[in-house]
Amino acid sequence: MANLDKYLTIEDLMKAARRRVPKMFFDYADSGAWTESTYRENSSDFEKIKLRQRVAVNLENRNLATTMMGQPVSMPVAIAPVGSTGMQSADGEIKAARAAEKFGIPFTLSTMAICSIEDVAENTTKPFWFQLYVMRDKPFIERLIDRAKAAKCPVLVLTMDLQILGQRHKDIRNGLRAPPPITPRFLFEIATKPAWTFGMLGTKRRTFRNIAGHVTEAVNLASLSKWTATQFDLTLNWKDIAWIKKRFGGPVVVKGILDAEDARLAV
Ligand SMILES: Cc1cc2nc3c(=O)[nH]c(=O)nc-3n(C[C@H](O)[C@H](O)[C@H](O)COP(=O)(O)O)c2cc1C
Repeated sequence: MANLDKYLTIEDLMKAARRRVPKMFFDYADSGAWTESTYRENSSDFEKIKLRQRVAVNLENRNLATTMMGQPVSMPVAIAPVGSTGMQSADGEIKAARAAEKFGIPFTLSTMAICSIEDVAENTTKPFWFQLYVMRDKPFIERLIDRAKAAKCPVLVLTMDLQILGQRHKDIRNGLRAPPPITPRFLFEIATKPAWTFGMLGTKRRTFRNIAGHVTEAVNLASLSKWTATQFDLTLNWKDIAWIKKRFGGPVVVKGILDAEDARLAV
């Protein structure tokens, strides 16, 4: 386990990740679609928020602990679903879920994770949240919801804003894949990123394990990519939320709402 004391800022962590992780995966995490303007705004919008500072109040027992979705948390923050985390670091989703567990905040596992629902459940002791992408293959979605229930995930996070993928120039230029194709460029990466390489050699989790082995059309890597690329359901609408909610039977967080009107429709 890395000693985190030497990383004082997010920039320090980013620099370390750039050194450690193959370019195609670092760029995947550090980029946006098309001109990347909304990606930049993700940071710049937050910079505009200023906190009101009051003085002469008793600060002794300040406490960030609260509840989120009925669950006690040490602070009101959850780890968002991040696809392919297990490609940034071997078994990345398990590591992140364990860190969240230790810290007392929820971890959200992505549909497009490398470690499966079952992998994370077997390697953690507290329940984690599961994020669902709605695919055209409804029996697969039903099985996925049932698997999340079997793993005792208390909250389902339903992502609504990725039915059409934005064009991500860096990913196209880098030929992003999980696992990556063995090209001369990638062999160079393997040689120059030994910590990442040894980690990956030490795990069997190197592809999208929520999907691989759970869809008959996706028997190998080529068919898995083909299946996934055609699966995001363009007809996803508010009525779908109703059956998903019913099937899951617990709280559903609707994720990716960007317009106030849509927020009103979601409730
Ligand atoms: C590399 C990367 C992968 C992501 N993968 C997913 C995903 O699989 N599912 C999902 O719902 N959101 C995904 N997101 C979106 C995040 O969950 C989150 O909503 C977004 O990054 C905004 O939060 P932030 O400002 O804290 O980054 C991803 C974001 C990034 C940067």
